[in-house]
Amino acid sequence: MSKTATLTIDGNSYEFPIKVGTENEIAIDINSLRSSTSGIITIDPGFKNTGSCESAITFLDGEKGILRYRGYAIEELAEKADFLEVAYLLIFGELPTAETLAKFHSDIKAQSHVDEDVKKIIDGFPKSAHPMGVLSSLTSALVAFNPSSVNVDSEEEMYNAIVRILGKFPVLTAWAYRKRAGLPLDYGDDSLGYVENFLKMMFKKPSGEFTSNPVVVDAMDKLLILHADHEQNCSTSTVRMVGSSHAGLFVSISAGIAALWGPLHGGANQAVIEMLEAIKEDGGDTKKYMAKAKDKKDPFRLMGFGHRVYKNFDPRAKIIKKAADSVLSDLGVEDPVLDIAKGLEKEALEDSYFVDRKLYPNVDFYSGIMYRAMGIPVEMFTPMFALGRLPGWIAQWREMRLKKEPIGRPRQVYIGENQRSFKKISDR
Ligand code: SDX
Repeated sequence: MSKTATLTIDGNSYEFPIKVGTENEIAIDINSLRSSTSGIITIDPGFKNTGSCESAITFLDGEKGILRYRGYAIEELAEKADFLEVAYLLIFGELPTAETLAKFHSDIKAQSHVDEDVKKIIDGFPKSAHPMGVLSSLTSALVAFNPSSVNVDSEEEMYNAIVRILGKFPVLTAWAYRKRAGLPLDYGDDSLGYVENFLKMMFKKPSGEFTSNPVVVDAMDKLLILHADHEQNCSTSTVRMVGSSHAGLFVSISAGIAALWGPLHGGANQAVIEMLEAIKEDGGDTKKYMAKAKDKKDPFRLMGFGHRVYKNFDPRAKIIKKAADSVLSDLGVEDPVLDIAKGLEKEALEDSYFVDRKLYPNVDFYSGIMYRAMGIPVEMFTPMFALGRLPGWIAQWREMRLKKEPIGRPRQVYIGENQRSFKKISDR
């Protein structure tokens, strides 16, 4: 592999260093492009060909359907680890010892109290407010009750900010749900595991005891692991961009929640179920929806299908599809939309439109079916994605700040009016 790339413009040649990652990804470092060519830049809407950073956190190979967190295969982590262990791994780079994990969890529990005044903010929302909007607002609001900025040069301050958001976020997520459900905003039980305690905060009835179902706890833990990080996706890039101005961790995550809400991103898990329900209501006519998805004049897309990076199966979709079968049967849940989803997948994978464009089911295609079987209402599907992605956002924000990366400020190519003189209103 050559060490440099040469760009030739108008007979002038410019050399740029080649960077090669530990998985042999190759990048042209154009750091000196503008200065060495007196002003020439690149342009790449959606950053489909542009790397924003070097990162040691997550590796994806879209062609081979590979996903690894800090070098560990997602299939292994989903099978053998628990969510808090994976959170520690993503953030600090190594799997924790039993003692370190126990301390991490107890430090998180110590930070799981949310100021009672936050309930007054929640009171201000109508019951109909989408929980993603509530969650993004509340995460920002935490700044009013906690130190607003993090001195990233202090390991202790960084650690404290991390356990603070990991302690409070599940509470805010559960409260966003309970607000809509008209249930009291309460806490769980510190004697429980992280995921079990979250489920208790979500579903504990005011008058009854909560007994968790180990099938649900295990399924939720696995789903959170599968959503925990995914390199420079839209919401993670947002968290990095906001954090690059040295805005605090909580507000950077609040911005990430907003980006994740979009139906082209994390909001797709809600859109998939709504699509599958519409197909069911329509008599299960999947062919009609396949035709809509292929019709360029129709804005309808097959939600849960396609991916910017995976041009093969999304490994998470494979794991979730397999888990969905066993969780639904363990819970004795019959969900007709699961069969519709499998039918759609089969048809799409035999249809040249999807095959030619390498459109396969992504993480959002089956996850909603599992959430629903576990009693999670559809408007809480994307908040579940956010709860899972929180450690990834934290890890990426921390890496960006520790590497002292510059403020994100892309260039542009101006295509507007050339200079013109002002006209008096009477002359317009
Ligand atoms: C997530 O980036 C990540 O890592 C994200 C994520 C994560 O963990 O953070 O993996 C989570 O966001 C998963 C994606 C969830 N979104 C959806 O399921 C929404 C439906 N999918 C799409 O809108 C789309 O596939 C994207 C947004 C996921 C990817 O879009 P790209 O990479 O910009 O691709 P594109 O829109 O340029 O599409 C390429 C072609 C186009 O057709 P042509 O113009 O070439 O003829 O494929 C078509 C598109 O029209 N296409 C689809 C389609 N997805 C792409 N056609 C029908 N249905 C679809 N779902």
